Amino acid sequence: MKIEKNLLSDAERKQKPQQVEDLSFGSVFTDHMLTMTYSGGKWHSPRITPYSLLELDPASLVLHYGQGIFEGMKAYRRGNDVFLFRPTQNISRFNRSASRMVMPKMDETFMLEAIEELICIERDWIPSKSGTSLYIRPTMIATERKLGVKPSDEYIFFIILSPVGPYFKEGFKPIRIMIAESYARAAPGGVGAAKTIGNYAASLKEEKRAKESGYSQVLWLDACDNKYLEEVGTMNVFVVFEDEIATPELGGTILPGITRDSVITLLRNWDMDVVERKISVDEVLAGVQDGHLTEMFGCGTAAIIAPIGVLGYQRKEYPISNGRIGNVTKRLYDELTGIQSGERKDNYGWVHSVC
Ligand code: PLP
Ligand code: COI
Repeated sequence: MKIEKNLLSDAERKQKPQQVEDLSFGSVFTDHMLTMTYSGGKWHSPRITPYSLLELDPASLVLHYGQGIFEGMKAYRRGNDVFLFRPTQNISRFNRSASRMVMPKMDETFMLEAIEELICIERDWIPSKSGTSLYIRPTMIATERKLGVKPSDEYIFFIILSPVGPYFKEGFKPIRIMIAESYARAAPGGVGAAKTIGNYAASLKEEKRAKESGYSQVLWLDACDNKYLEEVGTMNVFVVFEDEIATPELGGTILPGITRDSVITLLRNWDMDVVERKISVDEVLAGVQDGHLTEMFGCGTAAIIAPIGVLGYQRKEYPISNGRIGNVTKRLYDELTGIQSGERKDNYGWVHSVC
């Protein structure tokens, strides 16, 4: 499918931010976006146009029943070279989310080409300082005008781009995480493993309580026993014990993170013992208290690797690694950001050159 283009002249383009690392995450957008429409049973009319408002009927199904999915990926720049990190993983996860939400699939080859074309047009927006990147947000929403609950027959797919620095205002420093008490994020059989918009809406109430109590994000527990670690607001979680590194197993209630998978691969390649298993909150708190738990961190595209310095649970605080960044966490951050930015050798075939 050929992508139609209507581009701004150089004079019409916006001024780019000087200090991307100081921007609040995802608050500035590039000059252009890509849109494509699904109707009559097929995708058509892909276009790259100036960034603009979307026109939506107030009865669009997404506005009422949340039939919407998205992805989060990043483009990096080193000198004149532009890279994506494992983009085909995001694209196949997008299609798995689409399938769970009864939305039409994308042609995966076309979706990668569309991302690449938009990135190349906006390549001057890609920051090159360490810890910065161009965040890519492919999204699909249900646009059929209908109040009856049903899968939409019409959709819009769009991609917007935002130059970003660290997700947390702390940067690469230990963050404070509150363990959820009153609410759960996703239950077995639900949509926790899909990157669907409602999962984030469901998290807001407990996230608000966390923020008000001085924490950055919530660590969710499982919905059945309220006992086992699931994932953090926008990240998967790893716990470093003296004798093993553990991360919650994928059971359909958490997002199968691409960073999580990359971390597991790196750790195994370093001959470290990584297990995907159930981790109870009691085990974690006991490990903090007897020193058996040495580090804990979250990981995700936006957050990269985020050291956890304090856990809050039932009005008590549990400091981890004496509030410092642990060795495993630091080594992973350096290796991952080094590979992503093209500074370190990629032995895994993860880095995808664009233009
Ligand atoms: N879990 C949630 C809820 C997320 O929003 C994210 C971010 O995408 C992740 C985990 C990490 O996934 P990934 O590493 O693919 O970005
Ligand atoms: C990402 O890491 O890409 C995410 O999707 C997190 C986002 C909700 C900010």
